Amino acid sequence: MAIHHSVQVMALASLALVAAVAPATTTHLRFYMHDIVTAEAPGAATAVRVVRGLTPLPNDPTNRFGDMYTIDDALTEGAGAASPVIGRAQGFYLFASRTDAALLLSANMVFTAGKHNGSAVAVFARDAILDSVRELPVVGGTGAFRGAAGYGLLRTNTFNATTNNAVLQIDMYLNV
Ligand SMILES: *[C@@H]1O[C@H](CO)[C@@H](O)[C@H](O)[C@H]1NC(C)=O
Ligand SMILES: *[C@@H]1O[C@H](CO)[C@@H](O)[C@H](O)[C@H]1NC(C)=O
Repeated sequence: MAIHHSVQVMALASLALVAAVAPATTTHLRFYMHDIVTAEAPGAATAVRVVRGLTPLPNDPTNRFGDMYTIDDALTEGAGAASPVIGRAQGFYLFASRTDAALLLSANMVFTAGKHNGSAVAVFARDAILDSVRELPVVGGTGAFRGAAGYGLLRTNTFNATTNNAVLQIDMYLNV
């Protein structure tokens, strides 16, 4: 009888544990990041090279291992340049491979309008820029995204090889 009773207690305790770790809600956000290296008046460059590397990358006349750009890129709802701005990607990217076009991207996605205004998501990623899809580990967040975990998927929407300007599509899957 006593044994039977304690089995029941254990069963109840493990149910409570399951409830406590019930899956968090996943929020999907899609937005676009405008990486403007070469500005056209009256716009401003939002990706500015602040460090010049010494070693050219193989088969790449432009970029060098160690090149670093600081960014304050607009985030918009849609891909077009005139699409409503919902935030900024603020941080830097660095050419972190001696042999490949692979960046270290470290940035906060700061939301300044809409439902997530005032919240931010922190990303720390390897961005192999020629790959069709790159994964962005989410390392945290603030505001509504405090303690967020999850990932993003980054895709190049448009790239202009003359200006080096790019529009990136970002899909974020956040567990808060
Ligand atoms: C975003 O939040 C700030 C601070 O609360 C506020 O001043 C601003 O008007 C908001 N922006 C939009 C577009 O809602
Ligand atoms: C790239 O940018 C240049 C300079 O703004 C422009 O003349 C050209 O049409 C653009 N190319 C593409 C494919 O959009």
